[in-house]
Amino acid sequence: MLYQFYQRRIFPHLLNQVMQTASLMDRRRELLLPIEGEVLEIGFGTGLNVPFYGNVDSLYALEPNPDIYQLAVERVQHAPFYIKHVQSSAEKLPFADASLDHIVSTWTLCSIPQLDQALAEIHRVLKPTGTFHLLEHVKHPDSVKIQSLQTLLTPIQKRIGDGCHLNRDIERHVLQANFQFIVKDYFDAEGIPAIAQKMLLARVQKREMTA
Ligand SMILES: C[S@@+](CC[C@H](N)C(=O)[O-])C[C@H]1O[C@@H](n2cnc3c(N)ncnc32)[C@H](O)[C@@H]1O
Repeated sequence: MLYQFYQRRIFPHLLNQVMQTASLMDRRRELLLPIEGEVLEIGFGTGLNVPFYGNVDSLYALEPNPDIYQLAVERVQHAPFYIKHVQSSAEKLPFADASLDHIVSTWTLCSIPQLDQALAEIHRVLKPTGTFHLLEHVKHPDSVKIQSLQTLLTPIQKRIGDGCHLNRDIERHVLQANFQFIVKDYFDAEGIPAIAQKMLLARVQKREMTA
């Protein structure tokens, strides 16, 4: 019962604060500013990306957790473009095949329980010319010491961080889902502990199938 109280009443506020770390906000701007038209954002959270969609006309805000979405409502109401809340999970997207130009995920792929299924869904609903834009913390690509710590602490992190995995190799999962990288930038985010500091900002498209 105490854990349920933490998850429902405390965690959404913690998330809203931590995800506003200045270095993360700077990278949100870099990822989102070039995007135009209609967008699906998966794991919309508390709506922290809204101010950075400078060229967007409409947004599907997919967020399964109503306690988290509640903290987004004010940002949604003040948005200068149309936002529709979609209360679904990324593992089963309520969109037609090849129907979307842009899909966005910021620090959501770490938390999705069935990540490969969600990536298959993103692949299904993206147009052949569409782009999936992502910004995620990742399994450290080089340091064996940090990788071990990430694996050791992931069970605890999943409990306190609503399912968040510290040790996901996002690049590998994305490649396995038949995407190709258009942009791929690994960086260390300032002000974030070493265990979750390595980030990936990427833009990917569906891999062209050879006959
Ligand atoms: C760390 S938060 C990031 C929130 C937001 N994207 C941001 O950048 O601040 C992870 C988000 O993923 C959402 N999430 C968890 N499982 C999900 C799923 N299966 N499908 C879609 N979103 C999910 C959570 O509810 C939460 O809002």
